Amino acid sequence: MVTMGGFRKSLISIVLAAGLLACLLNACAPAGTADETKTGSKYIIGVSQANMREEWRIALIDELKEAADSEEDIQIITADATGSVSKQVQDIDNLINYGSDLIIISPVDEKKMASKIKEIYNKDVPVIVMDRAVEGFDYTLYIGPDNQVVGRQAGDYVANRLGDNGGRVVALSSKSMSIQGTERMAGFLGTMEENSQINVESLYMESESKDAAYDLICASKEKVERADIIFAYSDNVALGVCDALRDSGLEGTVQVVDCDGFKGEDEGMDLVKEGRLLATVSCPIGGNEAFDYAKSILKNESGVPKQVILRSTLITVGNINEALGQMDANYEDHGQTIDVGFSQPGKESNWRLANIKSVSESARAFNINLHMEYADQSQAKQFEAIRGFIDEGVDVIIVSPVVGDGWEGILTQAKDAGIPVIMSDRDVTIEGEDESLRTTYIGADFMEEGRRAMQWLRDNVPAKGKALKIMELKGNAGAKPTLERGQGFRNILNQTPGYEIEYSDYGDFTFEGGREVVSQYLDENEWDIDIIYAHNDDMALGAIEELKARGIMPDQKVTVISVDATKAAFESMVAGELSCSVECNPIIGDQLMKAVRDLVAGKKMPYKIITEEKVYDQSVAESLIKSREY
Ligand code: AHR
Repeated sequence: MVTMGGFRKSLISIVLAAGLLACLLNACAPAGTADETKTGSKYIIGVSQANMREEWRIALIDELKEAADSEEDIQIITADATGSVSKQVQDIDNLINYGSDLIIISPVDEKKMASKIKEIYNKDVPVIVMDRAVEGFDYTLYIGPDNQVVGRQAGDYVANRLGDNGGRVVALSSKSMSIQGTERMAGFLGTMEENSQINVESLYMESESKDAAYDLICASKEKVERADIIFAYSDNVALGVCDALRDSGLEGTVQVVDCDGFKGEDEGMDLVKEGRLLATVSCPIGGNEAFDYAKSILKNESGVPKQVILRSTLITVGNINEALGQMDANYEDHGQTIDVGFSQPGKESNWRLANIKSVSESARAFNINLHMEYADQSQAKQFEAIRGFIDEGVDVIIVSPVVGDGWEGILTQAKDAGIPVIMSDRDVTIEGEDESLRTTYIGADFMEEGRRAMQWLRDNVPAKGKALKIMELKGNAGAKPTLERGQGFRNILNQTPGYEIEYSDYGDFTFEGGREVVSQYLDENEWDIDIIYAHNDDMALGAIEELKARGIMPDQKVTVISVDATKAAFESMVAGELSCSVECNPIIGDQLMKAVRDLVAGKKMPYKIITEEKVYDQSVAESLIKSREY
């Protein structure tokens, strides 16, 4: 729900009209600014920036303001927390008091700001978190890159470039480093460690500024001239390095690789084009994406995800022109008919049926021709279906993979045919991490689902004395939800004494599979299990049926918890049998079809788009069952 704050809003319009808001903000939030040109805007977006010292943070504000310039009914007000958590908490209160309908926050410290973000989210003020995800899902939307991946991309490039003979690398760190810099450096150094043929030396700047980088390179000339490549983790640092190399007569002898890849004079893209940088890993700042989603949230549109992980791209002289062209492109959807081939793993569960329905309905609504194929849980059949789509010449292929591994060959065939592939609901693991093989992933965070299941148990089924025994009903072997729901669950379990996994077997995400695992266990053992954790509802319901047939009452003798939160799971919770279900949302048709249209229009996709999900137990089941969509 969007708070409109009617009275407050008219008041703020008057204040804005009088041009006083900036002064008010400045009184409480010294670096706050407001766009004074728009009075009486329908919506106000309050932006709380961690600090306005770092170049990319300034760029984010610029991007947001530029996006807002083209929207008459949206007003942006900003506040600079100057790196202080307490100031940021105060800024957020001020921004809300001034009538903000939505808050965009780039947190000073994501751990320390988590409770404030949760507080405003619970008060129904939509909040978009940028750059650093806070733990859990207590915010409206998270947008940001994965900075470790960014650093790894730079590292992989350097390792490939130096090859088997290796070489010398200087990595430029700072004594006081931003979180982004720290994460990028961790990713970069991680890949360097995997390449023992490369000798890496870290040099430390006094600060993160261009001048500090310049001074350090000039002062370290002896070390620098022995290096093959210098790694700089931002455009700012890279510019200082490039200038120092030029002034020390080392330009062209020692190469530079950086991250950021901003566009504009002396930024990363510019430096690659001029040949001063060997490569940059370019990451979108996220302002445009945040603004677009903010509009959708304010207008209560459907299909807003929970997390958008931005895509970073390696840019060299080989693809700089194409990349710049893409940045400048004006994407237009001409409303043409689009053909999509969709390979589903099968019809194994209620979740899958709901997903198939959602995708089919959305395709019709988006005027997209959908050809859906079901693979009976066979990867070979999925390959066959995809080859068929390639022969048909579809515009886009969507795949929900049975298992996560072994996709490189078939995805390369699709790429060679010029057909982009979207991963739906389940992602793939790509060897060599050639991310160009899949455009984006739209679906759930399975790890988080597993974590939430164990958190619920920890909070609701406390271990007293003897350790509680858990039976795990796994999905099919090798599927991402199987692997990650298992891992996420164990992450929390390992920090929680008093619980142990006694037995674990595959039920393949089917009702029958869950029933059979319990049946076999009971054929061979006395019932000694306290908790059943099923990777989906269908298996949990199958297990419950078998337990009841054997005279073991669920929820009394054994707690059953599962994932999906289907209507059938709600019915079981209302009947007092299933105890809890962690939501995995299958209604992703609109998001998928929107992505298809964007792709065909030529837009670059984020790396991942994660859906919104909640946790439900018996205490809320009855009141919510009627509103369940699947
Ligand atoms: O990939 C999503 C999972 O696959 C669902 O949780 C499960 O029910 C399904 O079959």
